Amino acid sequence: MPGTCVVGLQWGDEAKGKIVDLLGNDFDIVVRYNGGANAGHTVVVNGKAFKLSLLPTGVIRPGVVSVIGNGVVIYPPRFLEEVDSLAHGGIDVSGHLFLSDHAHVIFPYHMEEERLLESGSEGKIGTTGRGIGPCYQDKVGRRFGIRVGDLLNGDHLRERLRFIVPFKNRLMMALANGQASAWRHFDPEAIAEEYLGYAQRLQPYVRDTSRLLQDALRAGKRLIFEAAQGSLLDVDHGTYPYVTSSSSLPSGIWGGAGVPAKFITRIIGVVKAYTTRVGQGPFPTELTDGPEGIGERIRRIGREYGTVTGRPRRVGWFDAVAVRYTATLAGADEITVMLLDVLSGLPELKICTAYELEGQRLTHFPSDAYQLARCQPIYETIPGWREDITGVRKLADLPAGARRYVERISELIGLKVSVVSVGPDREQTIVV
Ligand code: IMP
Repeated sequence: MPGTCVVGLQWGDEAKGKIVDLLGNDFDIVVRYNGGANAGHTVVVNGKAFKLSLLPTGVIRPGVVSVIGNGVVIYPPRFLEEVDSLAHGGIDVSGHLFLSDHAHVIFPYHMEEERLLESGSEGKIGTTGRGIGPCYQDKVGRRFGIRVGDLLNGDHLRERLRFIVPFKNRLMMALANGQASAWRHFDPEAIAEEYLGYAQRLQPYVRDTSRLLQDALRAGKRLIFEAAQGSLLDVDHGTYPYVTSSSSLPSGIWGGAGVPAKFITRIIGVVKAYTTRVGQGPFPTELTDGPEGIGERIRRIGREYGTVTGRPRRVGWFDAVAVRYTATLAGADEITVMLLDVLSGLPELKICTAYELEGQRLTHFPSDAYQLARCQPIYETIPGWREDITGVRKLADLPAGARRYVERISELIGLKVSVVSVGPDREQTIVV
């Protein structure tokens, strides 16, 4: 098993970190290949909680090497903050953490650009405000992108910023309709000084990570790839334009880490037992039943608030149409069902098995946001269960309703369920 990918099959926050943690002894290197500090996860080690956005969750495993691939966008202060917080907690990552010289760098003007674009009433995507989209735009646009490797040469960096920043200032003035007080002006020299300071501290981590990973594969090392966000937020296959700006499906690995697909031999699709989404965009199974409703109950019990932004997540029933679509695109071999315990106590549960669009029954997922927004879910109802299941460790010991619910998800997606999670702790897990 040289390469395993753990990928979320919904709109992110599927508790992928717990699966990576459970696979802890089965890999030597953990790799991130997409996104940036828009992801968020809390990792608890010896009772201490670490909030990570940019570093992979596997970074806390002793002896494991962590790699941030070229497909990730880096905000250097955030990277250093996370490294420092781990060091304060007694986890030294030096010599175990590597950052691609080809990864693109987020600058303060990216965040300002995003703030201005998202503050208008139209065209809002509901982003995390971390500068992710504008940085990827500059990467693909080529003229204004700066990579980690560029930070390591002071003259080169200053020259690039002297060319880029005046353009960015003009762009921001235009986005703010010329209102001087509505946007922040940037000075290329000040940014260069600030980032050269970061570069000194980043340098020991910087590597040609594609080569590092290829050498590791040749040496028989086992790799695990942590996808950030969820497959429905993939820039190509997600609910465009309400997506993130990177390839969050396993297809992003080849481009975002330089590891050919043939090395990825196991793909684990992670789903929540229900659905959540943060930000704008269509969500056919969303529960909008008010403060006393089931949606609010799931949000409260499942603590469904964004790790990065603190925003309440939108909550809805499990959507088998959407997950069938992403499981196929991801090439998932198995699925893991997370947070099943959150549904305990509900008299009945609904699973969306098809959509209705203009009088037609659809069993495929229209990933176009305009079409999806007009789809009505068609539900199947399954009786719930009353029992607390957080102490259950075997599938056979689950109440009949819970067992049926998991089996039905498996049947509808057409994949075996390999893990059912019944609580946040490592022990609160049913391995099937
Ligand atoms: P961006 O990635 O900040 O540009 O945000 C684009 C969309 O992706 C927004 O709807 C965000 O809420 C969503 N998003 C980005 N990262 C995550 C994540 O890690 N979990 C859930 N949603 C995310």
